[in-house]
Amino acid sequence: MGALINPSILSADFANLERDLGRIAHADFAHVDVMDNHFVPNLTLGLPVVQRLAEVSPVPLDVHLMIDDADRWAPQYAEAGAASVTFHAEAAQAPVRLARELRGAGVRVGVALRPASPVEPFLDLLDEIDMVLVMTVEPGFGGQSFIEGMLPKIRRTRAAIDEAGLDTWVQVDGGVARDTIARVARAGANVFVAGSAVYGADDVAAEIDELRRRADAAHTVQA
Ligand code: DX5
Ligand code: ZN
Repeated sequence: MGALINPSILSADFANLERDLGRIAHADFAHVDVMDNHFVPNLTLGLPVVQRLAEVSPVPLDVHLMIDDADRWAPQYAEAGAASVTFHAEAAQAPVRLARELRGAGVRVGVALRPASPVEPFLDLLDEIDMVLVMTVEPGFGGQSFIEGMLPKIRRTRAAIDEAGLDTWVQVDGGVARDTIARVARAGANVFVAGSAVYGADDVAAEIDELRRRADAAHTVQA
């Protein structure tokens, strides 16, 4: 499977979300950052907006929940029409129960890790989830610079998935752009979130193509 490019609409125009979803029609998913001003110091959008985005989006929604009390709220994002729902490990009381509930609702399940959170507690639980999201910035804002120190965590995650013979996806979010995507791909990521790099480009569609080309090339060199 080739690299998946999921532009983050956090960097889109919030007054024109339908138009800006149309600009990423050949991306793999639209990454939707839900923030509650508690788990992170920023506030974006919630269930009613996600529900409408799911109705008008040309691509499936990859919802990244940066909210407290994920156990309570995440299932409602599955009902709202997301294709993939990612909750933060730090915000879930019972991640396996929640993951099973989300899978039962028919969505892909992701578990996200802040930069300072270890992946090791989840390595024995990989078959319960569909994706690990390794944050490469502190969650909360777009446009931050990539944390190089996260590359070993990506490598350890990929190694554990391969060793277990699973097809769990590894997503990376934060500071992904032309100058970082090849390193992230070589470390083992296959799903790339990019907000400012995509929506800040003069030609949004061409930027998606270029990021995908660079990630696929990095994977090919490695294989
Ligand atoms: C940050 C969000 C990201 C954000 C990434 O907390 O989770 O999805 O949009 O933005 P860039 O790609 O600009 O680092
Ligand atoms: Zn995100």
